[in-house]
Amino acid sequence: MEKSKIKILITGGAGFIGSHVVRLFVNKYPEYEIFNLDLLTYAGNLENLRDIEHHENYHFLKVDINDGQAINDLFRKYKFDKVIHLAAESHVDRSITDPLAFVKTNVIGTMNLLNAAKDTWKDDYDNKLFYHISTDEVYGTLGETGLFTEETPYDPNSPYSASKASSDHFVRAYGETYDLPFIITNCSNNYGPNQFPEKLIPLCINNIIENKALPVYGDGKYTRDWLYVIDHAVAIDMAFHNGSNKETYNIGGLNEWQNIELIQLLCEVMDKKLDRSAGESAKLITYVKDRPGHDKRYAIDAGKMNKDLGWKPSVTFEEGLEETIDWYLDNEEWLKNVTSGRYQEYYDKQYS
Ligand code: NAD
Ligand code: DAU
Repeated sequence: MEKSKIKILITGGAGFIGSHVVRLFVNKYPEYEIFNLDLLTYAGNLENLRDIEHHENYHFLKVDINDGQAINDLFRKYKFDKVIHLAAESHVDRSITDPLAFVKTNVIGTMNLLNAAKDTWKDDYDNKLFYHISTDEVYGTLGETGLFTEETPYDPNSPYSASKASSDHFVRAYGETYDLPFIITNCSNNYGPNQFPEKLIPLCINNIIENKALPVYGDGKYTRDWLYVIDHAVAIDMAFHNGSNKETYNIGGLNEWQNIELIQLLCEVMDKKLDRSAGESAKLITYVKDRPGHDKRYAIDAGKMNKDLGWKPSVTFEEGLEETIDWYLDNEEWLKNVTSGRYQEYYDKQYS
């Protein structure tokens, strides 16, 4: 008799990082059934998954994680073995204008999944896993030196990071209280194909193409640690398969850039790609009002991922950035589709 396949629920699989995770799992593990659960908010886009949507081991479920009843029904129906939870409201600026939406999806939505997993698995936790994808922003901000480790105390500064921190705490609490098997990974800033152009890198790529201002918050000296999204997907694969129960792992690129330096590099590469004279795109750089509660610096010590699981980033920033720019230039239609309509309303409100 054929052994029944392991059923993996991936939430937020139509979003930026989720779509790369879904693709990797669908292609690499035909022995798994992959269920991509996504509400398709402004950030979710099935165009991101066209190449795998007809694979036999791929299924799409359009469901809201805030709908507890629907989540319970799905767990009862499909009896998922494992969960990789990415669905979230993910943009800091939006969390400043609508914090409650972040509490709903990131906290209540996560609780709905935790409750359904606990109730479905409670009699037998063998081979079960709730893998929660989180962010380095839960640690707050660093000064000029130092790195976030797994021991850094949580100190979130934005409604987004507070909601992610809260969801991390609930996952850990379900592990302690109900013995729910879990892993949490906290990752630094991702970039790459399919990222929604509200985030710094694709926003600047889009604006350079359109000859629009490149909005630099504050003095531009804020620092982020950038990781190519496919390296993150590979790290998730490793933590999912080889991570230890109830452990947390930090994932990062060892790749710190001040925003202004990063934007200048983007401008240089784009000038060449678009046959513009050197310095032309940089003229678009415009300093604008700072983000309230803006975290000065993030940087990750990914030593535990490396030592315990053998993971390290495989793509240099220059390679990753070039691939990313090429992807956006080759996928103008995708960019046009996601920047029409509602995006314009958001953009005008955010940057007016
Ligand atoms: P994204 O905004 O691109 O995608 C989020 C996805 O979740 C979308 O497909 C959206 O439709 C879906 N979603 C939102 N609300 C939902 C709901 N109520 N029910 C079901 N689906 C819903 O986000 P991303 O950048 O891909 O981030 C994915 C995860 O990784 C998030 O949990 C985020 O906190 C975390 N993370 C992101 C980064 C980063 O740099 N982007 C870094 C570290 C961690
Ligand atoms: O660190 C991980 C986090 O990285 C993830 O958890 C979040 O989901 C993701 O959005 C990202 O958060 P950031 O706030 O760091 O990313 P964002 O792309 O919004 O901004 C990067 C930096 O660029 C930040 O210092 C703010 C600045 N910025 C951003 C925008 C959108 C600007 O200067 N101008 C802009 O227009």
